[in-house]
Amino acid sequence: MPERALTNYDLEKMMDTSDEWIYKRTGIKERHIAADNQVTSDLACEASKIALKRAGITADKLDMIIVGTCTPDMTLPATALHLQRKLGAGKSGCAAVDMNAACSGFLYSMSTANAYIKSGYAKTILVVGAELLTRIVNWDDRSTAVIFGDGAGAAILTQDSGSRGIMESELHADGDYAYLMIAPGNGTFRAPAGNYTKIHMEGHDTFKIAVRHLEDVSRSVLKKAGVRSEEINVVIPHQANVRIIEAVVKRLDIPIEKCVLTVDHHGNTAGASIPLALNEAVETGKISEGDMVLLNAFGAGITWGSMLVKW
Ligand code: ACO
Repeated sequence: MPERALTNYDLEKMMDTSDEWIYKRTGIKERHIAADNQVTSDLACEASKIALKRAGITADKLDMIIVGTCTPDMTLPATALHLQRKLGAGKSGCAAVDMNAACSGFLYSMSTANAYIKSGYAKTILVVGAELLTRIVNWDDRSTAVIFGDGAGAAILTQDSGSRGIMESELHADGDYAYLMIAPGNGTFRAPAGNYTKIHMEGHDTFKIAVRHLEDVSRSVLKKAGVRSEEINVVIPHQANVRIIEAVVKRLDIPIEKCVLTVDHHGNTAGASIPLALNEAVETGKISEGDMVLLNAFGAGITWGSMLVKW
């Protein structure tokens, strides 16, 4: 996480909002904001160094780097290339690419990495979720400005994980809802001038669709893996809104106590939220070896997915 925290009380001084409204509607108390001189690959690099150290490997041993982000450093080249350079692995020649699936970016990246490993194409892949959403937030729009934060998380996937690892995963997208959440930014879309280039979200409609899809995709993954919901030890959901998380686990008959909740101190960090929560679960001992861990995410696109991991 970047150092600087921005609390709901700080936001009260910047716009017509209140700690009470933000906390009641979203569960968020504070989010972190990157320094002016930081870019997405800087946060990605910090998280990657920790992941590499814990995995006991050096960056030159990677076969591939995948960065799930919807807030890249720049249009060209991909953030994964800047990350590769900052990790000192440029000359290793490993493949490096970004995946933009918004809040589902980490799950899309993990599933892709898993497929490359299963096919034998790669043995060791660095998967990162990194976002600097506060750069594309419209600070004049209180309905979105209070939600988003910055951060990055990373994981190393290897071929020789034995009986542990990704058991099942499923990804979806529905482009008919493309305009539910948009950030035209520097794309080729000819947006009118002004804040229209920043994030715009139809929050209410997004909420309803998210709950339905997250329940369905989680059920489908559990069914395919032959795992019952009561066998799940830990749930790591995308941290968009605590009310969405509560509604989904209730429908799945999973107690909320099994969920890792970081939305209160991270806000919505899109593709970074799952690896950040996963890291917190590891560091606080909420996950133990052999645990069944259910991940799920929903984001702009619209995109959504779920993954079952034996830790
Ligand atoms: N402070 C005070 N009042 C506010 C604020 C604020 N920050 N923002 C909105 N309001 C007001 C609105 O103006 C509205 O007032 P009105 O009734 O007088 O018109 C009222 O609060 C209710 O607004 P809603 O938008 O209906 O509030 P809602 O309960 O839907 O909560 C929220 C908004 C938090 C955005 C919710 O809809 C949500 O979480 N949606 C899902 C977001 C999500 O999951 N996104 C996917 C990932 S994002 C990505 O992929 C990048």
